[in-house]
Amino acid sequence: MVYYIRFLKTPRIQQQKGSTYLSALICITTDLGDSFLAEDVDLMMIAENSSGVTFQKSTKWNASNRELAITLGPLPSHLAQQSMVLTVQVPHPSGHLIPQYPPIPLVVAATSAPFGPRSTPAENLVQRRIQYSGCEPFPMKIWEETGNSIARHIWDVARDAGLATVTYLHMIRENIRRNDKSKSTEPKIQALKRVLSSPRRKPLQVVELGAGCGIAGIALASMLPACSVLLTDLPEVEDIITRNINAAQLATMSSVQYQNLDWDHPPDNLCPRPIELILVSDCTYNADSLPALVSTLDGLVRASPGAIILVALKRRHDSETVFFDLMGSAGFTAVQDSVEIPSQHDEVDEIEFYCYSRASEEI
Ligand SMILES: C[S@@+](CC[C@H](N)C(=O)[O-])C[C@H]1O[C@@H](n2cnc3c(N)ncnc32)[C@H](O)[C@@H]1O
Repeated sequence: MVYYIRFLKTPRIQQQKGSTYLSALICITTDLGDSFLAEDVDLMMIAENSSGVTFQKSTKWNASNRELAITLGPLPSHLAQQSMVLTVQVPHPSGHLIPQYPPIPLVVAATSAPFGPRSTPAENLVQRRIQYSGCEPFPMKIWEETGNSIARHIWDVARDAGLATVTYLHMIRENIRRNDKSKSTEPKIQALKRVLSSPRRKPLQVVELGAGCGIAGIALASMLPACSVLLTDLPEVEDIITRNINAAQLATMSSVQYQNLDWDHPPDNLCPRPIELILVSDCTYNADSLPALVSTLDGLVRASPGAIILVALKRRHDSETVFFDLMGSAGFTAVQDSVEIPSQHDEVDEIEFYCYSRASEEI
């Protein structure tokens, strides 16, 4: 399992005895916030103002920590006169990197929203920066909610399956770009390789269900030219997803839009053109919603019979197997693959990928 640095109290400026300090309260937890990182890690705190002036200091997260108060300062006056952002990261994460593109670190760094020069705290947001070859020197930036209630961090946050989906899509794009024919790197899901191959005469039509903060669909439209992505979810996530769409650096002729779509009330006609790829990342953990999810997938593929569905999941409990039964009953067959993600104490975990199509389609 991957661990995420979160701001329990977002950074703010404080004056003490005529000097300026920055303070925040962080924790490091799994994507669901249900377990804390239980190993010691060194952390680097970097304050950067809007002119690019930086100030940094190291600190340490101990295995027994549940939260960590951080203070940075006294800050040089030329830094503190402007608004700034705070990044908290593991300084040398290479020991935990799994050799893949883009690397998924054990501890995912956090960058705050801007704050200062006055004492108003930063908004309850955290930005994840994801670097993969092709997007240098600017990483993909995804905002998510943060704040002092871990229980809230269920929907609009980056999650392990979303991060692994970015990696998986990128691995396939790299395989295509390098024209790599070696058996060890050949994607098991050939249908996905075909769909992600370019150039194309018309933009690839992609729909993502339960997009959350939009990480998977936005990453695809950032790395693939001529890719038209429609992100969908419940109205609760519209604000954060819109923020991420507005911040996205998309590939040439690619676009990302958002539409509310409740699996319990799917619209009759979602896309003006036939959908070719449907993304579903980390949406299969709630057994109660699986019939509606599968029924929505069934409806979308009836309207676009050639569509393939890429499902990414991290196994959380046995009830999720209902999803596979429902997909089988709806006439879908799948090809499977997986991506390893790091876990604490040098262990590894796995995100599973299933590419579904109707039995008549060759995948
Ligand atoms: C665990 S999140 C996954 C987010 C994102 N795909 C990712 O991998 O990071 C599951 C998403 O499914 C959405 N969801 C749950 N029930 C839904 C429903 N009935 N209709 C539409 N979306 C739903 C939630 O709002 C949430 O954003």
